[in-house]
Amino acid sequence: MKGIWKLRLGQPAEEGLLALTGACANESLLRSDACPLCSAAIECEQIRERFVLRVPLDPAERLYGLGLGFQSLTLNHSVRHLRTDHYGGRDNGRTHAPVPFYASDAGYGIFVDTAENISFYMGGAVRTDAAVPPPEKNRGRDDDWRCDQDARFVEISFVGSGAEVYLFAGESLRDTVAQFNLLCGGGCLPPKWGLGFWHRMHIRHDEAAVTAELREFADHGLHVDVVGLEPGWQSNSYPCTLEWDRERFAEPAAFVEKLRQSGTRVNLWENSFISRKSAVYSRLLPFCGSHQVWGGAVPDVTLPEARELLLRHHEEQRAGVSGYKVDECDGYDGWLWPDHACFPSGHSATAIRNIFGVRLQRLLTGLFSKRGERTYGLVRASNAGAAPLPFCIYNDCYDFNQFLTGLATAGFCGVLWVPEVRDAATPEEWVRRFQLSALSPMLMLNAWASGAKPWKFPEVESIVADTIRLRRMLLPYLYNAFYTYRTEGVPPFRPLVMDYAALRGAEDAASGRLDDTDNPYELCEVADIVDQFLIGDCLMAAPMLPGQSERDVILPPGRWYDFHTGEPMSGSIRYACPLERIPLFVKEGGMIPLLQPDGSLLVRCFGAHGSCTLYDDDGETTAYENGCHALLHLSFVRNEQGVHGTCTIEDHGWQTAYTNVIFH
Ligand code: GAL
Repeated sequence: MKGIWKLRLGQPAEEGLLALTGACANESLLRSDACPLCSAAIECEQIRERFVLRVPLDPAERLYGLGLGFQSLTLNHSVRHLRTDHYGGRDNGRTHAPVPFYASDAGYGIFVDTAENISFYMGGAVRTDAAVPPPEKNRGRDDDWRCDQDARFVEISFVGSGAEVYLFAGESLRDTVAQFNLLCGGGCLPPKWGLGFWHRMHIRHDEAAVTAELREFADHGLHVDVVGLEPGWQSNSYPCTLEWDRERFAEPAAFVEKLRQSGTRVNLWENSFISRKSAVYSRLLPFCGSHQVWGGAVPDVTLPEARELLLRHHEEQRAGVSGYKVDECDGYDGWLWPDHACFPSGHSATAIRNIFGVRLQRLLTGLFSKRGERTYGLVRASNAGAAPLPFCIYNDCYDFNQFLTGLATAGFCGVLWVPEVRDAATPEEWVRRFQLSALSPMLMLNAWASGAKPWKFPEVESIVADTIRLRRMLLPYLYNAFYTYRTEGVPPFRPLVMDYAALRGAEDAASGRLDDTDNPYELCEVADIVDQFLIGDCLMAAPMLPGQSERDVILPPGRWYDFHTGEPMSGSIRYACPLERIPLFVKEGGMIPLLQPDGSLLVRCFGAHGSCTLYDDDGETTAYENGCHALLHLSFVRNEQGVHGTCTIEDHGWQTAYTNVIFH
């Protein structure tokens, strides 16, 4: 069963999250028949100022979602107080993307459309009057005593009097999540240049320093597709003027154009807290909140007047750049506006905090789309409704495992997460960092502070260069994965459990042991599989962590092939490989098109036979929205003589450059 139903629970007095972020929910997907899910069983209650929902839960169900997390994937028994924030080292709901959507492996998902801070008790809050109370155990005698109790409900509460709630039925977690993304408008399709190699410059670099640094990259045989300018491009930053510093960049438009001619796009850092020195300040001030952030005025982005002024100011200062990095919209309590701040729209400070990042993404996407251009950028805060917006979330945490977990949880909430490269203690770690970034939504070196360059460790310079090269070769495949995100809602990067429910994490036996300092309550954790992830239809990555030269890999059901050697394999394996190789596996029948330096496509074919459709378009304009694209129907059969492939091109107003296709 598949479908989306919308319920109105209680008497919602405020606009919901989708409305406040400006999202166009695709209501044509809604079903009008009675919802066969738990809608009848969802209990609602007003308890003082809080609206409470109780959603039935079977203890065997596993729950996922509730925004970007960095420590675990499975939500059962956890409590999340969702609120936009930076990530402070704990998965407690304060995060860059606190998306109030979760999916159950029992075949459904729930999205509570409120912009207010909202708490989810994921099966641990047990009522005294529960119809099926958990059995009472005796810690003094019972070996199976547990500190976590199994409640038969998820309880959800927020300050308010009701909300619209969307229920999703899906045959798999993947289906359920895909429908959530489609409701929000489908995933984004970044421009092709955005999937290339990104590098960010030092905060104080001027035009000459940027040019010199790019020349250094070229001398090392590396092309930078996108160069990021950090705060110092502005005449004042923190608070920001959002205006060029003419001492550092005398002719910004000419400078940006020169870079563009050489194949490098420019991305500008900003935050949205406006300096008195900015030309837009006095006009914007009447549409700003009561409190400053970083000394700047905070535009009430729910007001069209504020958005229009910001948009026009960006237009005037754009100078041909291709995108923005929108920093610090996630907050940090001590830096952002307080919860009692007032905004001229009358919306609560907490609601504005939860939608701020999405509104900015939408505004900046519009800056380009109204000219028929695409953008790809970075942002520190997002939320539901952002799936169609081409931005990746980043932060200042730099833990390799947490970066991996971020890729997994992002897949469950309609956002993209970028594990950027900043620094490394050893050449080996440097390589591992690049390898992970190369298999993510954005390959980016953000070492503006340390000045580290890809050749930081000369002994692995060629491996890093090959990693960047592999990323370029994967472009057609990645681009196609994003197309599937756009049209079918399937996240391009996602954890194994999303496609293979049986590969949910097992209870980690070691974690349940009594330890009077580390684990006095014998807490049992679920060891989710987050160190492997799926990319597109048929590729699975199992990156080596720093310090590893071999690792365990769980291959999902069926036969898989080593991407590098073509060797068939299945089940759980121990995998060893040299430093330069990223463990990558391809499903039986999978086809991976690799872009060659001469523009031809080398399609690597795995298994006995297979077929796929590869999407292509101009890669940079919005013409694809009007149907301009090409489809390459690829298929292969393998026999004793080798691989026999066919390619038929379907041209829909776009002539693909992939005309020379070789099968291997
Ligand atoms: C940080 C951000 C960094 C960098 C810096 C500039 O908040 O995470 O990536 O942009 O600000 O001041």
